[in-house]
Amino acid sequence: MLPNLKEIGDKITQNDVWKSIFRHRYEDTSRNRMLQVLSNVWLHIHPTTVTKGNINISFTWCLGGLTFFVFLFETLTGVLLMFYYTPDVNRAYADMLDLSNNAIPLGRLLRNTHRWAGHAMVITVCFHMLRVFLTGSYKAPRQFNWVVGVILLVLTLLLSFTGYLLPWDQLGYWAITVGTNMAGATPFAGYQGPFAELFGFTIDNDIRFGLLGGTSIQAPALLRAYVWHCIGLPAMAGGLMMLHFWRIRKDGFSGQL
Ligand code: HEM
Repeated sequence: MLPNLKEIGDKITQNDVWKSIFRHRYEDTSRNRMLQVLSNVWLHIHPTTVTKGNINISFTWCLGGLTFFVFLFETLTGVLLMFYYTPDVNRAYADMLDLSNNAIPLGRLLRNTHRWAGHAMVITVCFHMLRVFLTGSYKAPRQFNWVVGVILLVLTLLLSFTGYLLPWDQLGYWAITVGTNMAGATPFAGYQGPFAELFGFTIDNDIRFGLLGGTSIQAPALLRAYVWHCIGLPAMAGGLMMLHFWRIRKDGFSGQL
């Protein structure tokens, strides 16, 4: 005898566990459709209704959307690069050469697209910020989202900077030297900065020490740049992007007609 699919479906959906996760019914009514969207962590980013004006190509040129797309692309190519790159001072540069010389299948394509898309993300995020500024979209009620955006901009620049260090070539080595020396001269954080004495900062307990994992540039510095680049910064940026998109939905998009 064929199983009664409706009965099986009812058994799965008509219990407290299922209902605690999916808080909507399934009849095709506009209320249920709306509840499905609103109670879904991914779909609630989208509006439940879309007006004609919403789908016009607008003055935003989707620059924020492009930045997000490039971020996803970077995540994908970055994970693939992690299979071939070792964050070890004796191997990192050789691994990059292997990638660039196609000792690894499609290695050069992978490395170069990751690098160029990194540059593209910095450019698109700057243009996105310029657009938001020029259209006055930073004003109430979107001022909080502007601040979230500023943090996203800083994270984008830090992602770009930490990625630049990873090949451990001369450019990367001297960039980490200059960057961490700047951190060492930062007010309230670095041992050479203003108020260092007040807070008791010395060469072995300030922010530069934390970034390098030591007082000079050695193996721990590369490992720390790698962990920030591959885990810390993308996780923070991803979380803030969710907040950013949720706020756009809550505040209403300024270009809505
Ligand atoms: C990784 C960085 C960022 C991503 C992925 C991102 C993504 C987005 C997206 C998809 C939108 C919808 C409209 C559009 O596409 O233009 C948007 C809107 C907005 N963004 Fe960003 N953004 C980022 C950085 C920034 C920065 C740096 C700022 C400003 C400092 C900012 C401020 C805003 C504001 C205020 C809105 C609402 C604009 C409106 O309603 O017209 N965002 N963002």
